Amino acid sequence: MFRTLTLSCLLLLANAATAHNGVKDPQVMARMMAMESIGSAFKTLVSMAKNETPLHQAKARMARDTIVQHSGNIKALFEAQASDPKSEALPAIWANWEDFSDRADDLTTSAQALDFKDRAALADTLGAVGGACRACHKQYREKK
Ligand code: HEC
Repeated sequence: MFRTLTLSCLLLLANAATAHNGVKDPQVMARMMAMESIGSAFKTLVSMAKNETPLHQAKARMARDTIVQHSGNIKALFEAQASDPKSEALPAIWANWEDFSDRADDLTTSAQALDFKDRAALADTLGAVGGACRACHKQYREKK
């Protein structure tokens, strides 16, 4: 039960809706699209961990690889302080660049450690990934 609740909370993290509709700055669009890919891969894993969809090894691996790959690009995508009225990125990112970079690395590391040999292992290791999303969003993404 506790695990189910925790995973439901994690899912909130992945909700983008159409946050990037109408974004004009191409760099901002690129980083939002990368986040959206991370978000949808994360959702796939959460729904497997919650048993809403069957645990599928190849799909889980693809989702993990998507997160690892895009999280590895976060620093490059955010390095320039591009802005757009629709962006939710806070200026604190560039004022604390090293910490922001560490948060991006934390996501890569936790995604690399994902274990999907069974549902319990996935649920356990997914918690750290969700924690990495939350740790960064809390400080560097505006709440809208
Ligand atoms: C290193 C920091 C960092 C990490 C780690 C991170 N995010 Fe983000 N995320 C951001 C920032 C900053 C934005 C806002 C970007 C903007 O609006 O310009 C964002 C935006 C998003 C968006 C909205 C995209 C859109 O279309 O506007 C989603 C969805 C998202 N993140 C999901 C996730 C998920 C899921 C994880 C973990 C698996 C995660 N993020 C990890 C920093 C991070």
